[in-house]
Amino acid sequence: MSDNEKKPGEAEREGARQPKGFATRAIHDGQRADPRTGAVNVPLYLTSTFQMDGIEEHRGWEYSRVSNPTRDALEESLASLEGGKSAHVFASGVAATAALCTMMRSGDHVVCSANVYGGTARLLDQVFPRYGITVTYADSSDPAKVAAAIRPETKLVHVETPTNPMMVLTDVRAVAEVAHARGVEVSVDNTFMSPYLQRPLELGADIVMHSTTKFLNGHSDGLGGVLVCSTQEQAERFRFVQKSTGGILSPFEAFLLLRGVKTLAVRMRQHDANGRAVAGFLAERLGAERVFYPGLETHPQHQLAKRQQRGFGSMLSIELGTRERANGFVKRLRLAMLAASLGGVETLVCHPATMTHADMSAEERARMGIGEGLIRISVGLEEVEDVIADLGQALEVAERKQQR
Ligand SMILES: Cc1ncc(COP(=O)(O)O)c(C=O)c1O
Repeated sequence: MSDNEKKPGEAEREGARQPKGFATRAIHDGQRADPRTGAVNVPLYLTSTFQMDGIEEHRGWEYSRVSNPTRDALEESLASLEGGKSAHVFASGVAATAALCTMMRSGDHVVCSANVYGGTARLLDQVFPRYGITVTYADSSDPAKVAAAIRPETKLVHVETPTNPMMVLTDVRAVAEVAHARGVEVSVDNTFMSPYLQRPLELGADIVMHSTTKFLNGHSDGLGGVLVCSTQEQAERFRFVQKSTGGILSPFEAFLLLRGVKTLAVRMRQHDANGRAVAGFLAERLGAERVFYPGLETHPQHQLAKRQQRGFGSMLSIELGTRERANGFVKRLRLAMLAASLGGVETLVCHPATMTHADMSAEERARMGIGEGLIRISVGLEEVEDVIADLGQALEVAERKQQR
């Protein structure tokens, strides 16, 4: 049968099955023109409920906690970008991590990267132990240490790669091998990379998690989190959790995220270019040993970063030695802003010891390498020369103060 002989819509459906490039999927998957009006953007369905035509007769949607067409479009888009079976969005990244933990029951155990976002550690240390779920932190940059931490009751290995803020990498393929050999699932927090730069499911992970607040949204105007699944069983579990615990993403934030995702590929290419340039400048200025960025040849896991990631991204940390120097630096910034988030179009800096990791004890922070002089930088999409000039002048003042 030639294309002309196919039923209406059939040729288009076959076309849609052909593999498409990432940027194309980011713009089109889940984001079809509205069939009723032809609007090229998925409409924002600001409705809590949907009229039914009779008892048990609905048109696909009943109540927005369960599903909403704007959210459905976003979930289809994110599942496509991570190469997953389904995606499930939540009100924040932390809400997504909490939903992930509902796959465990009392008595179960999780092995977590030793160097994760402070809010993840707070959840695992201070919330889930109340329900009998315990955690062991392991240096996941060494798969043997992950293997050693797995117990008979371990249900999940959760890794963040690269970690926030020390930029330590985990070899996802190697960790998945050791975990799967013991019947344990692996989840990866892919927030720092975005699916453009790293796709953990292709490396053997079972579940991907993001704070969509960061690069996926990209404009610092909405919170969100997502779990991307690789099996039907996980998809059913997390759909049930969305409905039952209710911490879902609002239609409005889903709409903003759909818009952000359309430019993910171009944004990440530029973030990567700007990140490399800023890291190079800082390494020259401060010495490479004080700059944590996997794109630097001096980073101990540079080869793994080249193998596992499609680029190095725009997250990096610098060690300024003391709190006084760090404060002098952030106070003198004119373009970059001191703020807790990352992954937006604007350059943001953060002081992990008093911000993202403030809830940890000083000993725990010291164990992770987070001192009072550490500054994390999320390089934005401004002209990189302007970012470098701003960081450069702020460092100059901080350094002068130090010499006095
Ligand atoms: C790596 C990482 N994971 C998870 C989160 C939590 O996300 P949210 O702030 O959207 O709850 C963050 C937030 O900074 C993060 O950096």
